[in-house]
Amino acid sequence: MRLLIAGGAGFIGSSYVRRRLRAHPDDSVRVLDKLTYAGRRENLQGLPGDQLELVEGDIADLDRVGSAVDGCDAIVNFAAESHVDRSIESPGEFIETDVFGAFVLLEAARSAGIRHLQVSTDEVYGSIDAGSFTEESPIQPSSPYSASKAGGDLIVGAYHHTYGSDALIVRGSNNYGPRQHPEKLIPLCVLNALNGDPLPVYGNGMQVRNWIFVEDMCTGIDMVLERGEAGTVYNLGGPEELPNIEVVKKILELAGRDESLIEYVTDRLGHDRRYSLSSERARALGWEPQVLFDEGLRRTVEWYRQNEWWWSPIRSGEYREYYERQYGRALS
Ligand code: NAD
Ligand code: DAU
Repeated sequence: MRLLIAGGAGFIGSSYVRRRLRAHPDDSVRVLDKLTYAGRRENLQGLPGDQLELVEGDIADLDRVGSAVDGCDAIVNFAAESHVDRSIESPGEFIETDVFGAFVLLEAARSAGIRHLQVSTDEVYGSIDAGSFTEESPIQPSSPYSASKAGGDLIVGAYHHTYGSDALIVRGSNNYGPRQHPEKLIPLCVLNALNGDPLPVYGNGMQVRNWIFVEDMCTGIDMVLERGEAGTVYNLGGPEELPNIEVVKKILELAGRDESLIEYVTDRLGHDRRYSLSSERARALGWEPQVLFDEGLRRTVEWYRQNEWWWSPIRSGEYREYYERQYGRALS
């Protein structure tokens, strides 16, 4: 197969490209990526040049997408503005990429008559105090990020219903692992712990997230791409749920730091309290997450420890300004 991977230079997209080329050595991949602050060529470093092509471009650009899709057998769309806090600061780009961009890719897939897999999120369901969301749960997004992702999902459903498009959706829970941008909780806290900076915990730290190691998410995406039914949503939830404060304490322990580095800070606006997914539909396809949280976190901390070349340019660039705006203090 020849796949068009939109957003393949980001965290999950690049992990997926690695997995796909390893598991399917006869495949080739064309990555279409705008290379925003979150997308990096370095994320695709070391992959075989004869199997991989990187095209810099915006998924909201009809012409660019039209030529990128040429000769491809399927599209997997990871491209998005993906950070809730940045969506609260500046929602416009989220609507352009996550809603309009998703439409442009779907339209290209429809014209080419190929499969379109939309990578979406558990956040579209909103927050749940007890029990778990199934794919039949209503969507009730609460942040500009999750509302934009929900918009993309609704267009996918409409394309299948109206035009019979071979389009489908995965909704993943909170991913973590190598190459995640340090604006997100786990890499932010790992790097702050390694560098001796305070670890900012929003509110009381009792919000619960359902963590999935990125490689498990990618095996689920592959399974749904190969075996999923058009017009269907598949939840991909991780094996464990933890309150943020427990995650932060585990990171401190792995980094060899004490809890005096924890700093409780102003809560996120409209903060969702808990996410939880039931993934029975994906399990029926044969998918099962393999990596428990303690093992995945250990591997993640080790990866950041050993790959300073990857994160030090981020920690010295635009991210420093973002960090000061968001947390009201400078990084060391
Ligand atoms: P990321 O921010 O690390 O990567 C996003 C990628 O999309 C980057 O390479 C960026 O350059 C690219 N991009 C952004 N706007 C673009 C545009 N207009 N045109 C082309 N490329 C563009 O995000 P991630 O964490 O890897 O998430 C990937 C996808 O998975 C997103 O759709 C996200 O909503 C979804 N998701 C993420 C998680 C998570 O925990 N990280 C969980 C569930 C679902
Ligand atoms: O649930 C899936 C979603 O997970 C994805 O769709 C998003 O793309 C991804 O960013 C992630 O969203 P969250 O908002 O859950 O992730 P984040 O890492 O930003 O925050 C995780 C939790 O930690 C959340 O409850 C907020 C809290 N937090 C986050 C940061 C950055 C803190 O307490 N302090 C922080 O500094």
